Amino acid sequence: MAEKMHQIGKGQKSEILSRLNIAVEVPPLPEPLFPIEKNKIVKKPQDYAWNHAKTELQEIVAKLTASEAAYVTEARVNIPADFALACYSLASTLKKSPQQIAQDLAEKFNENNYLPEIKTAKADSGYLNFELDPKPFSDKVINEIEDSGDNYGNQNIGEGKTIVIDCSSPNIAKFMSVGHLRSTVIGESLARLYKANGYTVVRDNHLGDWGTQFGMLGRAHELWGDEIPELKTGKDTVQGLYKLYVKMHDEVEKQKEANPEGESTLEREGRAWFRRLEEGDPKAMEMLNWSTRQSLGEFQRIYDLLDARFEYMLGESYYVKMLPSVFKSLSEKKVTEKDEEGAVVVNFKESDKLSRLVVQKSDGASLYASRDLAALAARTKWFDPEKIIYVVGGDQTEYFKQVFKTFENWTDGKGPKVEHVGFGMISLPEGKMSTRRGRVVFLEDEGALAGVGLSKLECDFEW
Ligand code: ARG
Repeated sequence: MAEKMHQIGKGQKSEILSRLNIAVEVPPLPEPLFPIEKNKIVKKPQDYAWNHAKTELQEIVAKLTASEAAYVTEARVNIPADFALACYSLASTLKKSPQQIAQDLAEKFNENNYLPEIKTAKADSGYLNFELDPKPFSDKVINEIEDSGDNYGNQNIGEGKTIVIDCSSPNIAKFMSVGHLRSTVIGESLARLYKANGYTVVRDNHLGDWGTQFGMLGRAHELWGDEIPELKTGKDTVQGLYKLYVKMHDEVEKQKEANPEGESTLEREGRAWFRRLEEGDPKAMEMLNWSTRQSLGEFQRIYDLLDARFEYMLGESYYVKMLPSVFKSLSEKKVTEKDEEGAVVVNFKESDKLSRLVVQKSDGASLYASRDLAALAARTKWFDPEKIIYVVGGDQTEYFKQVFKTFENWTDGKGPKVEHVGFGMISLPEGKMSTRRGRVVFLEDEGALAGVGLSKLECDFEW
C-alpha cells in the first residue's frame, strides 16, 4: 500500500464532487484486496411472515374503511397485542368517534375470518388491537427458517446502496491496542448487519501511517536505530520501533525539563524530518515504507486470528497527494481561514458549539484532520456511499463532530451521511493509555486477549 502512495495517477474531478461543488483531485481507486461483494439478496421485508400479516391487515382495514388513512403498526410493548390500528386518523372521514370505529371494526373482524393468523381483534379506547394466532403464525415462521437457514431475516432494503465502514485503523510502528481490537470487531459486526440488509459494504482500514510522529520516529531511527537490538537483527522489528518511539519521548521530556521554554531540539528535528516526508524525500519515504511493511505483517497476523477482512487498507498517506487541492477548495469555499499565526483553521458558528479545528499548521504541515477531510472527498467520489461510518473510540467524539461539520459546510450539506460509532475507552488505574508514555496494554499482552484483562483494567465509558 505505502509503495503505491507516490504513484498516484493524475486524478480527475468526478461528477459527484462537482455536484457537491468541491474541486478536489482524487486519485483513482486502487484494486480492492478482494472483490467487493454485490448484494444478492432478493427477499423483501414484506416477504416475511410477520410483515406479510401486517401488510395484509393493512389492506383489509383499508378496504373495510374505504380509507387510505388506516395505518397498522406494531403494538406497543406493554399492550397484550401484536398489531394495532389507531382509529383517530379515520374519525373525520368516517364521521364517527375513534372508539366507535374501533368497536365496529372489531365486530367485523370477529364475525369474519379475514386472516387465519389473527386470533383476536379487540377495541380499546380508540385503538383496534390484533393478536396473532401462535399456531398458524409460528408454522409459517418455522417453514421460512427451514427454507432460508443462515439467510433467515436477510432482506434487500439496502439494494443499490453502499456503506463505507472505517474501522480497525491501527497505527504503523506501534502495536494494536485494545481500542483497535474493539473497532475491528464492532466494524465487522456492522458490516455483517448491513450486508444482511442488502447493502454493499466496503470496509476500509484507515491505517495511521502519516503525521508528525513519523518525523519523530524517523529522527529517532537516525539517532538511535543502531542501538536497538530488534532493529539490528530484524527480529521483532515492531517491538524495536516501539522502543525507539518510547526513547524519543523520554529524551524529549529530558530536554524539556532542562529547557522548559518553547520547542525542544528533538521536536524541531522531528518536524523537519516530517517535512521531508511531506515533500516526498525518497530516503524518508523508504524508512516509512519499511516500517509500514513490518507493521502490516504484524497486524495481518492478528487479523487472521480474528478472521477480520477489509476491502481496503488505504492509510492516511494515501490521501497526502490530494491535500493541496483540498486546502485550496476549502479556502475557496470559505470553510477555512488563516489565523494570526498562519495556520489554516475552521472557526465554527457559535451555535455549533465546537472549538476551532486546525487543518494545516503554520509551517504548511498537514494534520490528521486534513487527511480525514481528503478521505471523505475520495470515498464520496469512489463509492458514492449512502453513509460513511467511523468506528473509533469515544475520545474522538468531539473531533468527528468538527470534521463532519466541516464536511457539511464544504459540501453545502449535500454529501453522504456520516456517523461516528464510538465506544467506551479502556483506561489503566494510572490513567488514560498513552503509547508515548509507554503506558499501554497491547492486544497480545498477557491477559489482554483473555477477556481483555479486565481484572487489571478499568472501563471508563465516556459517552
Ligand atoms: N489511527 C487512529 C487511532 O489509532 C484511528 C483512525 C480512525 N479513523 C479515521 N478516519 N480517523 O486513533
